[in-house]
Amino acid sequence: MKAYGLYIGGKWMESSSRETFETANPATGEILGTFPMGAEADVLKAVEAAQEAVPSWRSYPPPKRGEILMKAASIMRGRKDELGELVTKEMGKVIAEGRGDVQEAIDFLEYISGEGRRLVGETTPSELPRKFCMTIRQPIGIVGCITPWNFPMAVPCWKLGAAFISGNAVVYKPSTLTPLCAATLAEIFEEAGLPHGVLNVVIGPADTVGRGIVEHPKIRAVSFTGGLAAGRDVYSRASALMKRVGLELGGKNPLIILDDANIDLAIEGVLFGAFGTAGQRCTATGRLIVHEGVYDEVKEKLVSSTKALKIGNPSDPSVDVGPMSSEEQEKKVLKYIQIGVEEGARLIYGGKKLSGGEYDKGFYIQPTIFEAEHGMRITKEEIFGPVLPVMRIRDYDEAVKIANDVEYGLSSSIYTRNITTAYRAIDELETGITYVNAPTIGAEVHLPFGGVKQTGTGGREAGTTAIEEFTEIKTVFIDYSERLQKAQIED
Ligand code: UN1
Repeated sequence: MKAYGLYIGGKWMESSSRETFETANPATGEILGTFPMGAEADVLKAVEAAQEAVPSWRSYPPPKRGEILMKAASIMRGRKDELGELVTKEMGKVIAEGRGDVQEAIDFLEYISGEGRRLVGETTPSELPRKFCMTIRQPIGIVGCITPWNFPMAVPCWKLGAAFISGNAVVYKPSTLTPLCAATLAEIFEEAGLPHGVLNVVIGPADTVGRGIVEHPKIRAVSFTGGLAAGRDVYSRASALMKRVGLELGGKNPLIILDDANIDLAIEGVLFGAFGTAGQRCTATGRLIVHEGVYDEVKEKLVSSTKALKIGNPSDPSVDVGPMSSEEQEKKVLKYIQIGVEEGARLIYGGKKLSGGEYDKGFYIQPTIFEAEHGMRITKEEIFGPVLPVMRIRDYDEAVKIANDVEYGLSSSIYTRNITTAYRAIDELETGITYVNAPTIGAEVHLPFGGVKQTGTGGREAGTTAIEEFTEIKTVFIDYSERLQKAQIED
């Protein structure tokens, strides 16, 4: 078992608190590594290291920055199986998805490396003669990135890749549940030639390290993915300091099945959307809304195919659903199941913590299905586990009304063969992402990712929008008339 450090200014070091913690496999309890538990003083060190790195990184040509990201992607490609296994061991998603997490990181790094040859600005005519107008993109300086445990390769790479290509240095706080993935990413970027101090990894608790990042005056932007309550806290603290804040705070994503849908296809989509990653995705299908004309058929097929899912150690390729990523997560999900029962939802499948044999070593919960009424807490709050409330509706309009009646707005999905209904849904579903005849999960990296309402503040990660969060726009006017020209005043 390897002992790691915080990664600051290109050096691996212990925490100033000297405290350590261990990371364990949530499927087996096996200890994977020992890590220093960072403290606020380590954030200060990281900011100093970042500050030193900023001037030369800022003037490092963006296409060359792109080459480093491309190299990192190629190292990850060469190690994809091993990194996929690492993701699976550290956070518990099934191995096919562990590899998928790594592939998503590779895809994004490859995609964003090309941005080094774009980072485009605008040129426009001036209202005055012999005057030239343009915009250029500049780095922000030092940015803070805070990521969750559920996509420990992909989500950090969305943030770090976009921050680096834009010329920023980063102070990065990964989740304390996935420090090994974060340390491995730091090793990969180092091997790819990222100059020291451009990436600084401070592992530690939200209320010291996270807060230290959010409140440090030299960190001018914060990019955060996590839960709504934590996101609100980040936003209020950072906005009081006039920082730029990017937030991606999850969802209660609806999947609608209408009476003209391909039901078997829809059921496959529901299983993947609701129980893939054991429901621990911000894009997970958190509500199933079914037309009364096909309700009984959907219910019966859903329950029988859920029964057939194999739950177990996610490293076994024949397993469909792995464990919850931690004991705390397991408790939270079990609590929501209890809330569902107490508020009168009808438990039609699952609902139990699994025990006996290998289940005793991990945090396994059965995929769980409730028949519910819209308005119950389990139909409105993000659970982040394999719990699916199903609701019956009379028609399309009722489906959309219910779909939109939550505070989140990340992803949505509709199964229908009617093109008119599909286009109406694209218009009317209040989410940042809408799928037609596909589940709520599975966004591709070259398209913008993010949500409306309380999912965020309007920014989008990935895609062509990825650099918005990490660049300042400077507007430039060049007057070559050799006289004072007055905008708005001269005829
Ligand atoms: C997340 O759950 O935080 O669309 C990200 C998806 C993945 C990304 C999910 N590509 O489900």
